[in-house]
Amino acid sequence: MNNKLLAIAAGILFLAACGPREKALSDVQTLSAPDGKLVLTFGLSSDGTPTYSLDREGVPVVLPSTLGYEFRGKRGSRYFTNWEQKDFEGNVDFHSGFIFKGAEQSTFDETWEPIWGEESSIRNHYNEMAVTLAKPGDGAEQLLVLRFRLYDEGLAFRYEFPEQGRALTYFVIKEELTQFRMAGDHTACWIPGDYDTQEYSYTVSRLSEIKARMRDIVDYNASQQVFSPTGVQTALQMRTDEGLYINIHEAAVLDYPTTSLNYDPRTRTFTTWLTPDAEGWKGRMQAPCKSPWRTVMAVDDARKVLASRLILNLNEPCAIPDAASWVHPVKYMGVWWEMITGKTHWSYTDDFPAIRLGETDYSKAKPHGRHGATTENVKRYLDFAAANGFDALLVEGWNEGWEDWFGCQKFDVFDFVTPYPDFDLPGLNAYAHKLGMKLIMHHETSSSAINYERNMEAAYDLMNRYGYDAVKSGYVGDILPEGEHHYSQFMINHYHYAIVEAAKHHIMVNAHEAVRPTGLCRTWPNMIGNESARGTEFRSSVLPNHVTILPFTRLQGGPMDYTPGIFEMRMERLNPDDHSIISSTIARQLALYVTMYSPLQMAADLPEHYAEHMDAFQFIKDVAVDWQRSEYLLAEPGDYVVIARQAKGNGQWFVGGVTDENARDLSVDFSFLEPGRKYIATIYSDAPDACGLGDSPEFNPGYEIRSVPVTSGEVLSIHLAPSGGFAISLK
Ligand code: NOJ
Ligand code: CA
Repeated sequence: MNNKLLAIAAGILFLAACGPREKALSDVQTLSAPDGKLVLTFGLSSDGTPTYSLDREGVPVVLPSTLGYEFRGKRGSRYFTNWEQKDFEGNVDFHSGFIFKGAEQSTFDETWEPIWGEESSIRNHYNEMAVTLAKPGDGAEQLLVLRFRLYDEGLAFRYEFPEQGRALTYFVIKEELTQFRMAGDHTACWIPGDYDTQEYSYTVSRLSEIKARMRDIVDYNASQQVFSPTGVQTALQMRTDEGLYINIHEAAVLDYPTTSLNYDPRTRTFTTWLTPDAEGWKGRMQAPCKSPWRTVMAVDDARKVLASRLILNLNEPCAIPDAASWVHPVKYMGVWWEMITGKTHWSYTDDFPAIRLGETDYSKAKPHGRHGATTENVKRYLDFAAANGFDALLVEGWNEGWEDWFGCQKFDVFDFVTPYPDFDLPGLNAYAHKLGMKLIMHHETSSSAINYERNMEAAYDLMNRYGYDAVKSGYVGDILPEGEHHYSQFMINHYHYAIVEAAKHHIMVNAHEAVRPTGLCRTWPNMIGNESARGTEFRSSVLPNHVTILPFTRLQGGPMDYTPGIFEMRMERLNPDDHSIISSTIARQLALYVTMYSPLQMAADLPEHYAEHMDAFQFIKDVAVDWQRSEYLLAEPGDYVVIARQAKGNGQWFVGGVTDENARDLSVDFSFLEPGRKYIATIYSDAPDACGLGDSPEFNPGYEIRSVPVTSGEVLSIHLAPSGGFAISLK
């Protein structure tokens, strides 16, 4: 079928799929993807509600779904009342009563080069349609532009509010009412909708099972607010029974709250659910302005989801003209895992259960003796990291304040510039630089956003003075001021402010607990990492299928500081009180450097644990962190992922593969290698009797290493243990 016929067929399907209450649409417009497979249909319902649908080769992806908003009404009398939602009269309907003004189509095709990434150049190719609508009102009509972009792999659209004077300038969003009506009871990989955290395990279930499964999956986090028994977060990865992979997400979230999706099982419809501010409102806007992009990917092969750059492409080009001269990939170690596991502490003393910033005199305190960030300990790590070719060392717990940081809900916990008495900040930086390394700064904000903003300039200045060029920040606990959320507009703006200010100081940022990224690293490549999902620090509560799902979900928006490389899975060896075992083999930990793309990769375990397995550690030393090409060899969300990547610069190939709780034999096809050349593959795989399941009596993280010659087109079968994996380096 040619594109025109497909578009007509889609239009017919669209009308047929409209429910009984949805009368025929007017002003119907269609748009096809460059390869013609995806077709978008847009129209207005009889009451003027904007409605769209998406089909792929005649198969419905999104059934007719409505678009629009509710705005806050006019403010009523505030006499004797508090400023609450009830003081505002009614809602303003901005979802019906529209009339069609026109539609314009265009095509765009560019290739751009990221400063770091999964490949050295990215094609951004789409067909676009801008639909202008007007809503007649008392005075001038209000204008809305719906901008649709169709890529071969998916749809993106956003709301644009053009400059229009008194008709619509200032408005407050009560609800965004974007719908995604699904055509079947798909299988989804989902985490609970939450205003504050993404640090959950994934559930793989039918959409109809979300409600029943919700209670089981919500476990504790230091800041958490689940808003609905059918709320889920994006990126939401689904699979239809017919084998279509649908992924709903958002891109370029700026000056706007994060959305989750609320599912209505009766109509099989997801509706956007924006994160409210402290008063319950969902966005303070001033035209001209726009919403983030809403995206629906739809492809016939799971590997195409991993290969897609939809979310990056929807962001603006790099905003830092000289970024290439100072933004760079980083392989690092850290004085960190020993605190996470409870072997040592961030704090310095037990003498001061409560401290006052700037007043407490630490020189008078008795050290508790378990402080991790001591000059001596940091030097020990630096020596090991430098000897093994690392770029940098993160040090947490270096600064005053950790005695009462957690759960205190204090405004001023840290000043980010005052080291503990046993941490020689100038001396350690000089020592690191002499070894050819840098220290990575750590700013735990304790979620006190205003305190951080107030101290940020001085904190970045200190970094510049001593030669730090990267900071890991963190947002543990409920946001202060209270009532704001990790994903509300206020905090979205805060995270962005931190990135922009950091860029002025030539500082790279890796924020933990901040909102999950939505491709902003294209514009701000100094955002070299984020956490925003359950990472290794959850130890034995990371499920075996977790890393087979993250590349489809969390990683779609940007790299994750997942902190792989744990070689000692038995926590007892770090903390005698912790009898848990991490569900992983050692070979699987190596695989993660390839499967979990990030320009910032940590070797998270302790030097003494690596010293016990220097042969396996060799892979971590060798593996690249920046790539010119990536090949997605095998992938099924929730089951397995196998990826091959070619390093930027020397062109060396690396392969990584991970499985869920099931053992598997996976065939690695080496067709990606250059034909006619001979390669030696060093294969780090699970030992025949290995088992990565931490709660199994069979647990055994053992590995074996062998070298075999391979050529392009050869296929090797590799055995993966339950919760295991493999890594290959090719020379
Ligand atoms: C949570 C972060 O994810 C973790 O990496 C960090 O060590 C602690 N917060 C302390 O800031
Ligand atoms: Ca965290």
